[in-house]
Amino acid sequence: MRRPWVVGVSGASGTPYAAAVLRGLLDAGEPVDLVVSRAARLTILDETGAPFRDAHWKDDLAGWLGRDLAGADVVHWAPGDLAAGPSSGSYPVRGMAVVPASTAACAGIAIGLSKDLLQRAAEVNLKERRPVVVVPRETPVTRSHLEHLIGLHDAGAVVLPASPGFYGAGAAATAQQLIDFVAGKVLDALGVEHRLFRRWSGELNADRR
Ligand SMILES: Cc1cc2nc3c(=O)[nH]c(=O)nc-3n(C[C@H](O)[C@H](O)[C@H](O)COP(=O)(O)O)c2cc1C
Repeated sequence: MRRPWVVGVSGASGTPYAAAVLRGLLDAGEPVDLVVSRAARLTILDETGAPFRDAHWKDDLAGWLGRDLAGADVVHWAPGDLAAGPSSGSYPVRGMAVVPASTAACAGIAIGLSKDLLQRAAEVNLKERRPVVVVPRETPVTRSHLEHLIGLHDAGAVVLPASPGFYGAGAAATAQQLIDFVAGKVLDALGVEHRLFRRWSGELNADRR
């Protein structure tokens, strides 16, 4: 039975984090069900210069990820499709990553709003007690943002802020290395193997001697 990871891309800045998580899952041979919110189309356009259209999702996704998707197990669901597979707990799914997660998506998931398929799928995975990783991207934050993150934590989600560490690649880390650090932490939380960053060895400055 096919049991994909649902990847929800919401309209926060940080679409490269989503691209890196998607590449990591596909590199690991994992099946993916993709939901891109309406607002995320604006951030993808703003950050890559390219559109993401439901009718051309495969071409647009291939362009965004910079790879041929032949052989990749990816299913796309439109964000307004509340009859889509991931809107039901009986649809087989391993879990979900919301990356990046807007404050609106965090709030909606935390209070069970289910205003679109992304929020509904996240709620379904929480209620089914499956792994859910939420990657908020906003700074600074309000009390209400923090309360929604606590609500997500208490509901069983891993709250994994887009907060790259520099210890893997050092102070001269490239943007891609910092992106891959966050994406790798998402894959760690899902239990998916990857080689996106160099792991801490227990020795200071070990790799730069
Ligand atoms: C270019 C752009 C960048 C944005 N960046 C952020 C952001 O970093 N964090 C955030 O919480 N919202 C951000 N927003 C606002 C969200 O897109 C907005 O709250 C939207 O309603 C989120 O909807 P969604 O959760 O359904 O994707 C941004 C919007 C635009 C157009």
